[in-house]
Amino acid sequence: MSEPNIRPHTAAGSRPPVGLLQVPPGHRLIVALDYPTWAEAEALVRQLTNVTFFKVGLEMFLSSRGQAVEALRALGKKVFLDLKFHDIPNTVAQACRQAVGLGVDILNVHTLGGRQMMTQAGAAVADEAKNRGIPAPALIAVTILTSMGETDLEEVGLAPMPADNVDRLARLTQASGLQGVVASPQEISLIRQACGRDFLIVCPGVRPQGAALGDQKRVMTPQAAIAAGADYLVVGRPITRAADPLAAAEAVLQEIREGLNSK
Ligand code: C5P
Repeated sequence: MSEPNIRPHTAAGSRPPVGLLQVPPGHRLIVALDYPTWAEAEALVRQLTNVTFFKVGLEMFLSSRGQAVEALRALGKKVFLDLKFHDIPNTVAQACRQAVGLGVDILNVHTLGGRQMMTQAGAAVADEAKNRGIPAPALIAVTILTSMGETDLEEVGLAPMPADNVDRLARLTQASGLQGVVASPQEISLIRQACGRDFLIVCPGVRPQGAALGDQKRVMTPQAAIAAGADYLVVGRPITRAADPLAAAEAVLQEIREGLNSK
């Protein structure tokens, strides 16, 4: 990486320093590489000369046998490793160490793994980065999958209203020493109120004006999400499936600049 990661990981339980104002607008767009082969993803990455940050999820990580992360780094890109770890604390902590070793910039876990899992994960990230002498990646958490509706939540024994769970779990994430959460744009103000402005909010479910919704139901434009307080936007199909991905990414970047200016 040609520049430091987002912010240093602090000891579990302490608040991370304010660092987001230093994040350039161009680094706030994370393009989701949801492809079955690295060859397809690489063609897009090489085309998107205006994008620095890419998300590697389960499909891309597995189809590339983990190589996507190293390949992106070799291309000078930043990586959000979206594998949403959820297991016993020791297993997740060890997995986090491996992710730090890969040199990712953001990684994530599920809050439903609990306080102990998150605390140990945070400590492992900080320790592994220190041992390697590298900046620690940001460790964030998924509160409630946005695919879960009221019935789904009740079936697994959670409060039926997504917002109630998001509020409680975002606070738990912060109390466990993690840097932020992945959240729907609709949850930004709730999380900002609960966790303050130094807490990272990474938002998928973003759609530029006029873009197809795909399977995303509750969306916001990039400008509105940034103005509402999102730190990073995850955008997939509106860019990856655009006739001109470079121009589509540029349009999102322009909306991000406008959103920042309107704050
Ligand atoms: O193509 P699209 O812009 O909908 O892609 C959004 C990306 O963000 C996908 O990789 C999707 O898995 C991810 N994501 C999401 N909603 C969440 C969490 C992750 O859409 N709540």
